[in-house]
Amino acid sequence: MWDYTEKVKEHFFNPRNVGEIENPDGIGEVGSLACGDALKLTFKLDENGRIKDARFKTFGCASAIATSSVLTEMIKGKTIDEAGELTNKDIADYLGGLPEQKMHCSVMGREALEAAIENYRTGGKKKHELEGKVVCICFGVTEKEIERVITENDLTTVEQVTNYCKAGGGCGGCKGEIAKIIEKVRGRKQKNKPEALPRKGRKLTNIQKMQLIQQTINEQIRPALRAHGGDIELTDVEGNKVIVAFRGMCAQCMLAEYTMKDVVEAKLREFVADELYVVEDKDSIQPHNHRG
Ligand code: FES
Repeated sequence: MWDYTEKVKEHFFNPRNVGEIENPDGIGEVGSLACGDALKLTFKLDENGRIKDARFKTFGCASAIATSSVLTEMIKGKTIDEAGELTNKDIADYLGGLPEQKMHCSVMGREALEAAIENYRTGGKKKHELEGKVVCICFGVTEKEIERVITENDLTTVEQVTNYCKAGGGCGGCKGEIAKIIEKVRGRKQKNKPEALPRKGRKLTNIQKMQLIQQTINEQIRPALRAHGGDIELTDVEGNKVIVAFRGMCAQCMLAEYTMKDVVEAKLREFVADELYVVEDKDSIQPHNHRG
């Protein structure tokens, strides 16, 4: 029996938004019945270009159903660009995590979303197709997709790659090539590793301070907000004043003031400098998201 979180179980037993939208603005179909998982995602936009409805049909296990269900919840209210930023990790985090052997379901969700967005952007012309060299013939997984799951999820072993995109999980004939791809991606990562920023307590130049604030937002703050359907962007830094804008659910949340002081400001003080204070960029709030 898999060790599923309460949220996975809840979405599996009560999946939201099951079905298919008539005349959708975007359709994404990925996977295949032969491979054991398939997902069809449809969405419709409102007059402001935000996703007002999203529905799914899926064939697969409990995590495939739960993943598809939360995906539809996560993208509602987002613009196409905002939805396009979601990663498979965001989807898994939103569920409170997935067993590693089931992470491929979160990847399938992200692929369906990208396919639906591409379908929308090409006016309904483009359907999902494999791009580049196919490495795993059993599951139809390309080199590009394998590179992507390695990079985005910091994978280091062939077994992990199989868990995240199924490649290698059939006859095993592609495992050698997957190992080479891991080596290549990790070698590239090592080379491109940015120089470590000085941490709190050292004297920072203005550029270093900006970078450390951005890094703290990306690594310490954003994942928690995204897990609840929200997001945050750094708008500007003026001396010790850090100006941020809330997005998604956070932009509508009555507790935004609390989040700003007790989460955002506290983390920036912990990781960057004690003198920092945070204010919200009111100008950037979308009119229909206005609180109050
Ligand atoms: S070719 Fe990848 S498992 Fe068979």
